[in-house]
Amino acid sequence: MIKEIPVSSPLIDEDDISEVTKVLRSGWISSLGEEVQLFEKLFAEYSGASYGVSTNSGTTSLHLALAALGIGQQDEVIMPDFTMIACPNAVSYTGAKSVLVDADPDTWCIDANMIEEKITERTKAIMPVHIYGYPSDMDLIMKIARKHNLYVIEDAAEAHGAEYKGKRVGSIGDVASFSFYANKIITTGEGGMCITNNRELGETMKWLRAHAFGKEGKHFWHERIGYGYRMSSLQAALGVSQSRKLDTLVKKRIENAKLYNDLLSPLESEGLLNLPPSEPDIKNVYWMYSITLSEKISRQKVMSYLDSRHIETRTFFYPVHRQPAYSSQYLDGNFPVSDLISRTGMNLPSGNTLTDGDIHLVVEALKEAVRN
Ligand SMILES: Cc1ncc(COP(=O)(O)O)c(C=O)c1O
Repeated sequence: MIKEIPVSSPLIDEDDISEVTKVLRSGWISSLGEEVQLFEKLFAEYSGASYGVSTNSGTTSLHLALAALGIGQQDEVIMPDFTMIACPNAVSYTGAKSVLVDADPDTWCIDANMIEEKITERTKAIMPVHIYGYPSDMDLIMKIARKHNLYVIEDAAEAHGAEYKGKRVGSIGDVASFSFYANKIITTGEGGMCITNNRELGETMKWLRAHAFGKEGKHFWHERIGYGYRMSSLQAALGVSQSRKLDTLVKKRIENAKLYNDLLSPLESEGLLNLPPSEPDIKNVYWMYSITLSEKISRQKVMSYLDSRHIETRTFFYPVHRQPAYSSQYLDGNFPVSDLISRTGMNLPSGNTLTDGDIHLVVEALKEAVRN
């Protein structure tokens, strides 16, 4: 039988199964079970924050953070043009507007040097996204945010365990959002979490996450519009056992990336492709092992060739300003870096089940595809 090599698949082991089974047997399957709090504590601690507020997706956790910060109609949130659609969507749910910034050609994250020129009197927050597991330029982003009195919402959906100058991502801004979708470094099937060091913000997010139920005895009394964003104990149980493996899974991603880098560097020297970003002091966790191809090479042909060898790949995200749902808002937008990486970038198999043998197969096929 021919082996399929997926872009990213979860690794579910007996510990995961037994943790979820334990919850099933207990009968505490809603969000009220103790596993939810345990997962929040484990994951927030791991990421260097004091409070964790779990949700049912990375999209809802982004929205929850924005809503808890009071962002709404007339406000603007600065974010990268090169990102996943959940980012502008979460901002749109609040009624605010996403203001886009081009990508940094070296990191593919938001170009922090271009943020300040986008700030207006309506700007309330900056939302850096740690793309494909690579941290954004947080020193400069925090400096700009403090100068202009803006919130920083880190979108760390793709970057569990990544580090910026020795600090885990998610612990640097005012609040951060993670995703635990099935293709992420750790998963709860579907799920997300906000983390923060701000107690008041943490409490507000917990309150809004579950319909803003009334306090002080008036349970069914709602002073604000809250949300149905709770994570179930079944999901949290999986999160608990997955969290315990997070260090091992991150280490494996980094080892896999090193092998890819070693094998692919001759192609980079030949000018056929560019390896993923890398800088001292930055720990990339390679949620996706991602490359950009030379503009002389047809990405479509390369992907089709790999597909014929049963190797799954993905294109990079389309820039937000090109998305039909948003393009009319950004007709005068000029985002050359974002356009270029979006056109030439591809994600190679990167998941938790990837073996060294798989990586050798992928690289051999890629060499054939780009050299012919
Ligand atoms: C950068 C980014 N933000 C947010 C999300 C949304 O997460 P979810 O799919 O869990 O809603 C994703 C999902 O992949 C993402 O890549």
